[in-house]
Amino acid sequence: MTLNHPELVDLLQKAYSAEKAAAFAYQGHAGSVKDAIHKKEIHQIELDEWNHRDEVLQIMNDFAIPISKWYEFRFHSIGKMISGSCYIIGWFMPFYFAGRLESGNVCEYFRMKQFFNSLEISKYDTVLYEMGMKEKEHEVYFLEKIKNNRLLPFFEKFFSWGNSKGFNNIDLDKKYPLEESNHYCKKE
Ligand SMILES: [Fe+2]
Ligand SMILES: [Fe+2]
Repeated sequence: MTLNHPELVDLLQKAYSAEKAAAFAYQGHAGSVKDAIHKKEIHQIELDEWNHRDEVLQIMNDFAIPISKWYEFRFHSIGKMISGSCYIIGWFMPFYFAGRLESGNVCEYFRMKQFFNSLEISKYDTVLYEMGMKEKEHEVYFLEKIKNNRLLPFFEKFFSWGNSKGFNNIDLDKKYPLEESNHYCKKE
């Protein structure tokens, strides 16, 4: 079966490679923090990202979508760069930019679900919903760590993410089940 939706194919290929960048970045992040609990928590997030990469690959395999060599190269480099930078940019920034990135990733999975549904394919609803929600948990985790940091208001102003700004409309305290999640990440 082929997937006749270029935007969705690209989104899957990009997500597959970007998950590796995220996993690499969290290796550096976990390695650079001193707090043993943070280290363990960030390592768990790294494992979540490898897991996402596997799940995205399984979907790609169903439609014989090839892995993009360009995205693999590009995100490999980005991930390694971020990983190394965690050791030199201080404590705050790795938490901040991880949270900001996760905030954007949430909707990638909900958009994939919308695209599949537009093709009358609902087989991946659960796995995509869960991956989107997992990214939301990651976002909340990073925000929790820095929400009272004195640097946050400045970063929020310049990079548009923080206590009151984000890139998705999901609230884990008022979580909608899969069947009622269609309004998540809908473009106006
Ligand atoms: Fe992920
Ligand atoms: Fe994540």
